[in-house]
Formats: sequence, C-alpha cells, structure tokens
Amino acid sequence: MRITIVTLFPEFFDSPLACALMGKGREAGVVDFALVNPRDFTTDRHRTADDRPYGGGPGMVMLAEPLARALESIPQPGRMLLTSPRGRALDQDLARELAAEESVTVICGRYEGLDERLCELFPLEHVRVGEAVLNGGEAAALCLAEAVARLRPGFMGHADSGEEESFSRGLLEYPHYTRPEVFRGLPVPEALLSGDHARIARWRREQALAETLRRRPDLLEQADLGREDLETLRRLRREGPARPGRNLYLALVHAPVLNKFGEVTAVSLTNLDVHDIGRVSRTYGAAGLAVVTPLEDQQALLGKLLGHWTEGAGSRSNPDRAEALDRVAGLPDLDAAVAWVEAQAGTRPKVVATSARDEGSLTLPRVREWLRDEPVLLVLGTGHGLAPQILERADGVLRPLRPLGEYNHLPVRAAAAILLDRLLGDAG
Ligand SMILES: C[S@@+](CC[C@H](N)C(=O)[O-])C[C@H]1O[C@@H](n2cnc3c(N)ncnc32)[C@H](O)[C@@H]1O
Repeated sequence: MRITIVTLFPEFFDSPLACALMGKGREAGVVDFALVNPRDFTTDRHRTADDRPYGGGPGMVMLAEPLARALESIPQPGRMLLTSPRGRALDQDLARELAAEESVTVICGRYEGLDERLCELFPLEHVRVGEAVLNGGEAAALCLAEAVARLRPGFMGHADSGEEESFSRGLLEYPHYTRPEVFRGLPVPEALLSGDHARIARWRREQALAETLRRRPDLLEQADLGREDLETLRRLRREGPARPGRNLYLALVHAPVLNKFGEVTAVSLTNLDVHDIGRVSRTYGAAGLAVVTPLEDQQALLGKLLGHWTEGAGSRSNPDRAEALDRVAGLPDLDAAVAWVEAQAGTRPKVVATSARDEGSLTLPRVREWLRDEPVLLVLGTGHGLAPQILERADGVLRPLRPLGEYNHLPVRAAAAILLDRLLGDAG
C-alpha cells in the first residue's frame, strides 16, 4: 500500500516512519510512503506557500496554487484525506476502510488551514484526530498512517493481533499482564494462570465488557453482543459501584404551571403520565418520581391510584407495575419534593427545570457531570409548561429538546423518556 503525505515539513516524518514496526513494515514492502512538499511547486523566489487571509484576522492561509499542483503531481493519489479539526473522526472503522485501499493521500494543513477553494476542486475527505487543535496536520497524518498500516496483512507479527484489539469487535480490549506473577504486592488475576483456555477466554470477554461499560458505554450500542454478554453486562451494572440513575429524581409538577393563555394555574393529574413516567424512571434506574399537586382531591386520587397498584389488587395482578410505581410519591409543592430528595440522598439536590420555550441554557452533559457526585431533581411541567416562579428558583433551566425544530410540543411523557435516555441511557 502507498501512503502519500503532502506536507510543508517532510523532515517531521524522518524518525517515525523509520523506526519500530513502521520501519519494518516499510522494509518488508507492506507499506510505502511518498512525501510531497507543496513548497516544491511554488514559482516565486521565496518559495512562498502561504499568504494573509482575505477579510483580515490573525494567522496565514496555505496558498491554493502550490497545493493544487502538488496534488496533481501525485500519480495515483487514491482517496484524498485532509487533516482537519472539522473532519470525520479517525476511528477503527475508517482505518479498516482505508487499509483496504492500495493508495491514499493525506494532506497536512498548517497555519489557519488551506484556501477553501481546494475543497471544491479536489475530492478532499476531512479527517480529524481527537477534539483538540494541533499545530499542523503532520501529527494527525502519522496517527492515520499508523492506524491504517498496522491493519495491512503482514504488518504485525502475530496474525491475530489486529483482531483482538480495542474497537475490533466493538469493545475495548481486556487488560494484559506479564511477569512477575506478583508485582509490588499485586498478583496477576488468577484466571490467567489457570491454563484453562475456555476460562481465560471467558475472563477476557468479561473484562472487555467491564472496561467498555466503565469507560466507553457509548460503544455498547453498536457492539456485537450475544445473550451471554448482555447477562454479564446486567450483572456488572447491578454489582457496579455507580448505578447511573442513583442520583436522579424527577418531579412532575401540576401547579404552578401555565395554561394556553400564559396564565398561572393548576392542572389535573393524568393517569397515563403517572404510569408512563413511573415506568420510564424505573426502566432507566432513576431514584424516584415526585408527583406534585397542591390540590387535595388530586392528592387523594393519586393516593388511591398508587395504593391500588402498589398494595391492592393491581399489585398482585401486575407486580411489574407495582415495582414501577413503588418509587412514586405524591407531594404538595416543589419545596416538599426537594425535602423528599434530601431525606433520601442526604444532601439538597440541584434543581433542574425544563422548558420548551427557549428559556434555558443548561446542557445535558453538564447535568450528567452533576449526576456523578450529587442528587439532581429534574422538574417537568404539565399544562403549557412550568410557571416562571419555578424556573426562577431552579439551579438551572435545560435547553429545550429539539431547539432548532419549528414545531416543539412534546407530550411530557415523551420529554421525560427522551431526557432520561440522554441522561442515563447506555449510549450516554
Ligand atoms: C492550527 S491548525 C488550524 C486550525 C483552524 N484554524 C481551526 O480552528 O479549525 C493547522 C492545521 O492543523 C491540522 N489540524 C489541527 N488540529 C487537527 C486535528 N485535531 N485533527 C486533524 N488535523 C488537525 C489541520 O490540517 C489544520 O489545517
């Protein structure tokens, strides 16, 4: 395979392409590199490859002409990849795709980047490494070259090495140990010393699942998982120290809320809301749901409904429903809901209000961070949404779901389900 790297600093690659596995891969003819310098395609005395940006501003921009001529000089460029923070992430799927090509070209940007018109003239695929800005594309090109070359047949000594690694089957890799058997008091896990290959394979699979669950649960959504894997994951989650929903409480508020005229009012309970939000909370492992209404007849109705399903005839005919509604409490106002959380969690929760009306700037990743260490009470409004006095006393108001949509009228049950999935879902 040939990898052509277009760079203003070809010397950057001297050592990394010469040593260790890459050096051997080149010697064995598994991978071959060509370095093309756009400066060699300049026509002025100073060999100028950059100029000031139109419109002003800091930094310089790589000139289009030398780069275009450099690209046109490559006999078989193959797929043309532009290193760019704006690009598709370099991941194992992309590495695998590129390893199937016979030639690829990687362009290293410098300064503020290239003249944008090159992207119209050449089929450049933007590729990024990480989520941070580098001085230039050279380090990114090296990452790409290594990730791709090592997947070529014959590059790695052991034929299985590439198959077993992190990401190869959608999971992170299991941990490794080598001699001595005990290092500074820490022994090698016993299963690895057993000599029992089936047991070692089971141990490794479980460790791969546990690592992925702990560090990159988002990968699990696409991983190739069998029934046994799912059982292991369930057990790991059950036994693990950080059940994700343990700090999340919900409050479904029926007063004070707004009516369709924008007036502050109280609305009636809805049987469906209580059942469905209770079930969603239970499914995602949230710690509890407070149904807030100051109206005594509504509280009595809620008491009757919960009693039927958690202790009465309903609990016997449908124990699942009893489990879902077990953690639902009827409370008169938000202060009582905050006190209810405090009594269970030991500290006052952060109160997070929700609104579909563009009144909030709090983001879900921030709430996920809070949830790691402290209780959070997520407050949902019925009617036409929470009244201003609730939003004002919250620690934060979440950005609406679908803020860019034209139509934004989710039922509160649907909003609760989406929020819980984004906060506690396996893909989070
Ligand atoms: C200093 S950066 C320019 C950053 C650019 N002004 C921006 O804010 O997106 C110079 C060059 O480094 C490369 N580069 C920087 N960070 C990168 C990353 N994370 N992944 C891939 N290439 C990167 C790109 O080729 C980029 O054109």
